[in-house]
Amino acid sequence: MKNTQSYIQENKDRFLSELIELLKIPSVSADPAFSEDVKATAQFVKSSLENAGCDLVEVHATAGHPIVYGEKIIDPSLPTVLVYGHYDVQPADPIELWDSPPFEPVIKKTDIHPDGAIFARGSCDDKGQMFMHVKAFEAMAASNEIPCNVKFMIEGEEEVGSVNLGKFCEENKEKLACDVVLISDTSVISNDVPSVTVGLRGLSYVEVEVTGPNRDLHSGVYGGAVGNPVNIMCEMIASLKDENNHITIPGFYDNVEVVSTEERVEMNKAPFNLEKYKEDLEIDAIDGEKGYTVLEQTSIRPTLDVNGIWGGYIGEGAKTVLPSQAFAKISMRLVPNQTPDEITELFKSHFESIAPSSVKVKVTPHHGGDAAVTPTDTVEYQAASMAMEQTYGKKPIPQRSGGSIPIVSLFEKVLGTKTVLMGFGLDSDSIHSPNEHYGLFNYYKGIETIPYYFKYYSELKK
Ligand code: BES
Ligand code: MN
Ligand code: MN
Repeated sequence: MKNTQSYIQENKDRFLSELIELLKIPSVSADPAFSEDVKATAQFVKSSLENAGCDLVEVHATAGHPIVYGEKIIDPSLPTVLVYGHYDVQPADPIELWDSPPFEPVIKKTDIHPDGAIFARGSCDDKGQMFMHVKAFEAMAASNEIPCNVKFMIEGEEEVGSVNLGKFCEENKEKLACDVVLISDTSVISNDVPSVTVGLRGLSYVEVEVTGPNRDLHSGVYGGAVGNPVNIMCEMIASLKDENNHITIPGFYDNVEVVSTEERVEMNKAPFNLEKYKEDLEIDAIDGEKGYTVLEQTSIRPTLDVNGIWGGYIGEGAKTVLPSQAFAKISMRLVPNQTPDEITELFKSHFESIAPSSVKVKVTPHHGGDAAVTPTDTVEYQAASMAMEQTYGKKPIPQRSGGSIPIVSLFEKVLGTKTVLMGFGLDSDSIHSPNEHYGLFNYYKGIETIPYYFKYYSELKK
């Protein structure tokens, strides 16, 4: 891969300026106000794939945002790698907490990123990581060093639950046929401790609405007698966990995969510094499920968290009001064998059952997804391990992550293909938060590592 690697070194500055252009387009999938920008981003990705050397590139319209498909078939008898990524991003809110505008990328040095990091929404999740694949492919194509067939599927709805991707996969099984799916949309432990992600949590996401009296009331005139839906919803939510931070929904843990003691011991060998963790977040203590370490709490254990809560008067100053309604958005991260449908149903019936008769409760499910675990005793994993060892000088550690990429289990179900999660971000890169950034070290390391994945995978697969 000598030529590929020198091509990368020679074109580094351009690779960065092209990413900056991509990051300037606000492809927020959740907000219809940005739908033209989302479309423009799909076109940007399309041209990038064409310029990089794909023989065929298509933009597929869906009921939501478009999917970009590209391919370069060298020889049908060779193995095929399908690269998946997403060009959509999370909303930038709260915008006032950004040090620079979210869609005007700037490069700044940080303690963790002494070579500089690019600050912009989507820089790490996932435009930066997705674009590494386009550039790695360009380098291989320009150097005549593409060792196998390459397909790209870059979608625009990951951050809103990939609602139209399942149908697209079902309808295009032939087109998408491949031997492995390769994704860079996760993190490494740190820039000197490489890791390959071998597990993702699933997700069940619900919205609850608690309704008391038919209108907002004077909190003096009616307060004391009429049930306050905000108070009541808070009590109900608080009861969903006990003093050990165990979730109290009956049946919630019934199908939770029991991880063996050996695997837990192994998992906890990964470097983790609790003091640094707390210092970074400026918290004095953590507050997780009793009996588990932080690494376990954030990977092999399910969670229940309020993501947003509102109701009553939230404007300036004080308004005395007994609100008619209260609302909350609640996410439950799931582990293998828990299914989103089943957990959503358990949540719904439990939440309805604990409501006092002074209020009415409505539970609305949002998108969800299955957890995923990927084995390490496969050539697919092996190739990632070898590629990272090549560029980091160290063997990566297999590690389960707490985040969710619901389509991973879908690829297995629909296409019958295993996924390799070779991500290059850092957990501290503030994805989904203000001041999201991506290290230049990480961007270039990804571009350098990906061609080795293709090389080793093709060799091992023979
Ligand atoms: N790339 C993330 C998932 C991720 C981040 C996995 C870091 C592992 C480490 C992805 O874009 C994401 O944000 N997924 C959502 C789920 C989706 C259904 C909205 C998530 O995890 O909240
Ligand atoms: Mn992502
Ligand atoms: Mn995301």
